[in-house]
Amino acid sequence: MKKRSLIAALGAALLGLPGLAGAQPAWPQRPVTMIIPFAAGGPTDVLARALTEPMTRELGQPVVAENVTGAGGTIGAARVAAARPDGYTLLLGNIGLATSVALYRRLPYDPAGFETIGLITPVPMTLIARPGLPAQTLPELLAWARQRGSEVNLAHAGIGSASHLCATLLRSITRIPMTTVVFRGTAPVMTEMMAGRIDLTCDQTTNAMPYIQDGRVKAYAVTTAERLAALPDVATMAEGGLPDLQVTIWHGLYAPHGTPAAVVERIARALQATLRDETVGRRLADLGSAPEPQERVTPAAHRAMLDAEIARWRPILQAAGEFAD
Ligand code: MLT
Repeated sequence: MKKRSLIAALGAALLGLPGLAGAQPAWPQRPVTMIIPFAAGGPTDVLARALTEPMTRELGQPVVAENVTGAGGTIGAARVAAARPDGYTLLLGNIGLATSVALYRRLPYDPAGFETIGLITPVPMTLIARPGLPAQTLPELLAWARQRGSEVNLAHAGIGSASHLCATLLRSITRIPMTTVVFRGTAPVMTEMMAGRIDLTCDQTTNAMPYIQDGRVKAYAVTTAERLAALPDVATMAEGGLPDLQVTIWHGLYAPHGTPAAVVERIARALQATLRDETVGRRLADLGSAPEPQERVTPAAHRAMLDAEIARWRPILQAAGEFAD
């Protein structure tokens, strides 16, 4: 056996991977923690909780979700970056992994340094408002906000979050100097919005959908080129006069830098199987989303997406000029 194959075989045997001889401690041998870097009850949390049960079945060990919130998801990401690279601590991150690098000058980790495992689901965003806001359409809303300027409050889940990205685009495209209000996730934003204390936010449609459908918040526009089948009455940003405000956010699963490739592959296979699960597919469809195609649920496709998104958003965010530190 050549030296490289011998090393790979020994590594795989230690991880208990199939097809290679030897008594091995199988991986995983204990529960796997999936860090959710935003508040419980919000879109990342809802997604994580749709994944943990099928992932548990696939891996044969409990996959346990834990919310570690704050600073637009960067506190949870920092926790994972500093964890032992043994596959037992994972991060469910969204587009913020790609945007935060342009927004934080002193980030305690390199977002591009994580081991990418696979993309999970793309999610459109919807501009929503408190139920009593008088405007009925996006043009009316923009006119209302223009009159009030900084009296209008626009919430997001912290600099570097998906809702922050959408809010930044909204402020820079409309040039309306709305006041931003920061939360630890969009779940607490919804509570404040329903109570009438927050005017606007840009939320992931997967989270906003049930609130829109039963009238607890008002929806003005979706950030996709076409209307969404799940929200047929909600106009697109382009229909409302903001054609440049298009963004679909995405989620991926990450491991700390240096996690063995065989472990990353094992988790990727479990994630692929999870996203083929009909119950997971139905759950995502109910929320107006869908699993990523299987060829994107791979470390390489995820890596390519992360790198491309870092390059795409950096100049746009730097031009917007709103830094976290
Ligand atoms: C959340 O889970 O609260 C969101 O993903 C926050 C965000 O990125 O806007």
